[in-house]
Amino acid sequence: MDTKSQTLDNWVQLVEVGPRDGLQNESKPLSVERRVQLIEQLVNAGVSHIEAGSFVSPKWVPQMADTARVFAQLSRLDHCTYSALVPNMQGMTAAISAKVDEIAVFAAASETFSQKNINCSIAASLERFSGVIHAAKQQNIRVRGYISCVLGCPYEGDISPFQVASVAESLLKMGCDSLSLGDTIGVGTPKSLQTMLSAVSRHCPKERLALHCHDTYGQALVNIACALNEGIRTFDSSVAGLGGCPYAKGASGNVATEDLLYFLHNEGMNTGIDLSKMIDAGNAISAELNRLSASKVAAATGRSNTTFCSQ
Ligand code: HMG
Ligand code: MG
Repeated sequence: MDTKSQTLDNWVQLVEVGPRDGLQNESKPLSVERRVQLIEQLVNAGVSHIEAGSFVSPKWVPQMADTARVFAQLSRLDHCTYSALVPNMQGMTAAISAKVDEIAVFAAASETFSQKNINCSIAASLERFSGVIHAAKQQNIRVRGYISCVLGCPYEGDISPFQVASVAESLLKMGCDSLSLGDTIGVGTPKSLQTMLSAVSRHCPKERLALHCHDTYGQALVNIACALNEGIRTFDSSVAGLGGCPYAKGASGNVATEDLLYFLHNEGMNTGIDLSKMIDAGNAISAELNRLSASKVAAATGRSNTTFCSQ
């Protein structure tokens, strides 16, 4: 636990997306038991909001199959939010049965990405999400709305900040409690980020915004530093920098949680998460996946896993 005092001013909420965004793009699918073990290790490190899986089609994303069994086996802590992605009513029904604390619907600011990712246009996806959000509200389940490709699309290139703002406005009107702005392929820099944030924040208070940075071009931390200055206080990250998006070829994982913690804690911010325990969790899951942890902090402290290439 960070020893610095917790005040509203220095609190930063991390949303750990490794068990979902991370594992969904790893070629080695993990057993339900191993996914549960990872989630519990992360919560034990102090994570208080975790994306534990996805109620999507297992034909589309086999790594997320059996998310219902993951939820059933988890020992849940009261202070932690356990959330999951939901693309449609079929997923929503499963999420309600699994007693998720929060669902995340996922739209895009790019038409082509929307088609590739969820097999429908942006407009059709919003219509679908409207029913999903309504069902969530009836059950008192909180709703996060993702918007992908906010700073660029793997198929269309540049994306207009006004298009991002328009999707944001629609999701908020439908009842999303918060929005996570996804730099899906990690192409943004502070300049483009500021322009986009200024367009979106005309429709959404900054307290309800999160930033979701993939680190493909190594720009995640500089963008997060910029967003922090702009008043954003919620950031998504992935233990060991796992993952990417199956429908964004070449996208690497989210910013590594370990590296984000090092940055935030040294800036005097508090997250409630123990960096050392996070490094242990990152090394263990990286070894399991036969890969090196993508965390630079794990490597710099000489604690990166080196046993991955034993076979
Ligand atoms: P579709 O093929 O158009 O759906 O897929 P459908 O309604 O025609 O159904 C086809 C089959 O899928 C049927 O089964 C359904 O039962 C089944 P069949 O009759 O063929 O045996 N199905 C389902 N099964 C389980 N759970 C469900 C479900 N829905 C249908 N919920 C669909 C449409 C949305 C389902 C599909 O495209 C899909 O699952 N896509 C998921 C894509 C995905 O997970 N992408 C990665 C997450 S997004 C991301 O990573 C970005 C993010 O991190 C932010 C960022 O970085 O930018 C969030
Ligand atoms: Mg993502």
